Amino acid sequence: MLTITPTNAALGAEILGVDLSRDLADTTFNEIVAAFHEYEVVYFRNQTLRPEQHIAFSRRFGELEKHVRVDCCRPGYPELFVVSNVIENGKAIGSRDAGLFWHSDLCYMKEPSRGSLFYAREVPMKDGEPLGDTLFASATAAYEALPSSMKTKIAKLKAVNSYSKGYYRDRNSGARAPLTEDQKRRTPDIEHPIVRTHPFTGKKCLFVNEGYTSRIAALDGEEGESLLTELLAHATDERFIYRHRWQVGDFLIWDNCSTQHLAIPDYALPQRRLMERTTVRGSAPF
Ligand code: SIN
Repeated sequence: MLTITPTNAALGAEILGVDLSRDLADTTFNEIVAAFHEYEVVYFRNQTLRPEQHIAFSRRFGELEKHVRVDCCRPGYPELFVVSNVIENGKAIGSRDAGLFWHSDLCYMKEPSRGSLFYAREVPMKDGEPLGDTLFASATAAYEALPSSMKTKIAKLKAVNSYSKGYYRDRNSGARAPLTEDQKRRTPDIEHPIVRTHPFTGKKCLFVNEGYTSRIAALDGEEGESLLTELLAHATDERFIYRHRWQVGDFLIWDNCSTQHLAIPDYALPQRRLMERTTVRGSAPF
């Protein structure tokens, strides 16, 4: 039996008593998956993992993605997307500006990611306090809290998700090379239902985010824009948020259907932040 301690927020729980570097029994793994579905974000403290162990545990959730930003993956490990401000030999070792707007991973793909598994190797500190927190918003709590008139209005609507919208709007986008033809080919704009059913829990999720959702499909002009603005503001209302304060050795899993997230860039070198992420393949939203 695992010990699971929910946070005081709308989502999130700590799981205690698990060493993820070990080969976990199926019963233990199934309990972790059940907690992941229930709490939407789960985390384990004090983990010591080699890249192979991070990847092996992640693979138990399904096939892993290889990120379109190949230059940001750990050399030799195309499944490990590096999020870091660290520069080595004059070159960034990962993405320096990932997640600086609300989004869910790979929502711009035909089959958005099921979940992401994030490992904190280095956490920036100031006066003994961690910096570089990540905020998570529950898309199920956000959907539930909508007035029934809004639920009816958006029940059958779709929204357009655009990789290039997010790619070029980052704070440090000047540092990003223009998308290559291959990256563009892999990421055409895509329509997804605004109200998405979670493939494992059956719960309804509000599936729009400020980073990548560019417009409501089939609702042009002012009407579409104001509806999207209203939904985006609602989706990240503080009632639905859990704020994670990182510690070195944290291993956190978030659900990309039932949550969205935002990284807080309140640190700078010489304060180093080094995180590694695997991204589990998902299924087409319905
Ligand atoms: C991400 O969106 O994958 C990065 C999140 C973070 O750096 O906290």
